[in-house]
Amino acid sequence: MQWSKFVSVLLVVPYAYAILRFSCSQLVTERLDPLVNAGVAGSPHLHQIVGGNAFNVSMDPKVDIASQATCTTCTFSEDFSNYWTAVLYFRARNGTFKRVPQMGNVGFEDANGGGVTVYYSATASGSGKVTAFKQGFRMLVGDPTIRTKAEADKYRQLTYTCLQTASTRSGETKDLPSKPCPAGIMSNIRFPTCWDGVNLDSPDHMSHVAYPSSGTFENNGPCPSTHPVKIPQLFYETIWDTRKFNDKSLWPADGSQPFVWSYGDATGYGTHGDYVFGWKGDALQKAMDNNCNINCAALKTQTIAQANKCTQKQLVNEPIDGWLTSLPGNMPVTKREFHA
Ligand SMILES: *[C@@H]1O[C@H](CO)[C@@H](O)[C@H](O)[C@H]1NC(C)=O
Ligand SMILES: *[C@@H]1O[C@H](CO)[C@@H](O)[C@H](O)[C@H]1NC(C)=O
Repeated sequence: MQWSKFVSVLLVVPYAYAILRFSCSQLVTERLDPLVNAGVAGSPHLHQIVGGNAFNVSMDPKVDIASQATCTTCTFSEDFSNYWTAVLYFRARNGTFKRVPQMGNVGFEDANGGGVTVYYSATASGSGKVTAFKQGFRMLVGDPTIRTKAEADKYRQLTYTCLQTASTRSGETKDLPSKPCPAGIMSNIRFPTCWDGVNLDSPDHMSHVAYPSSGTFENNGPCPSTHPVKIPQLFYETIWDTRKFNDKSLWPADGSQPFVWSYGDATGYGTHGDYVFGWKGDALQKAMDNNCNINCAALKTQTIAQANKCTQKQLVNEPIDGWLTSLPGNMPVTKREFHA
């Protein structure tokens, strides 16, 4: 091997390709969903939202939120995208609900409200470039109405990790963990990684993207001919601090697990995430092309303390904390599969 090649191999290990990993603190927690319920102040279920402060009840794809927003909760300070997920509640034996707090991820412990750890990963080196999302791009993954494993299998890589310690990263399940998790529950939401190359959105916010036709993104599975363009893998990790609810005497008498999502799901199979792209200019493409990881000279950053200062007032004012007699929006709890 030539010396120059040897040096470059050494330099690229352990990141042979871009894996941006960064913290986005909480922006606001409220019942809004500008993708699925655009213009409706009071979407059916509660969300936690992170990212730029141009988030709103409706978001016109023609408006560049990167120029509209004045701050972001993400540590890459050119990222004004919005990322949102549902919110986890604990249901007590007496039927009341309490919001489960979140925790910052490893390295991001100071994130306001715990927030979301966001990843954008490129394919392995030598397999071709990924095309970053463009202004106006949005998508979602998962389906809050499903309650069975068979339905959930349509979506790959939407899972939970029962944290034994803060750094547990194995043993992912598609339903909520059935036993107490000593260090909390991590929700893992990975989006499809192939794009039709034309549509920035679609009526169901999903059909313009697809999974690899075989294999996985991680092992360079090819994109289907209908969706030939490789896009970065967008991935959200959220850690729910379930520790104060781990006493099994507080759990349902039938032995089932006590957590329920804000969309009324006690199984966990309906987990889902939403994304509205909002990076400034071509910053994300540059980061992918430069094989950036957490230290990326091509991108501007801010500290978590600075990111924590970006917050938004709730548009939909209602109690979301305390012991609630129903989930926000009176969302009923449904459960169709039982796992002891
Ligand atoms: C949200 O939209 C409303 C009405 O369109 C507007 O008045 C308000 O300024 C917007 N808020 C933000 C933070 O952009
Ligand atoms: C319901 O149970 C919770 C948890 O045990 C308790 O803190 C709360 O006060 C109870 N509420 C009522 C109305 O009994």
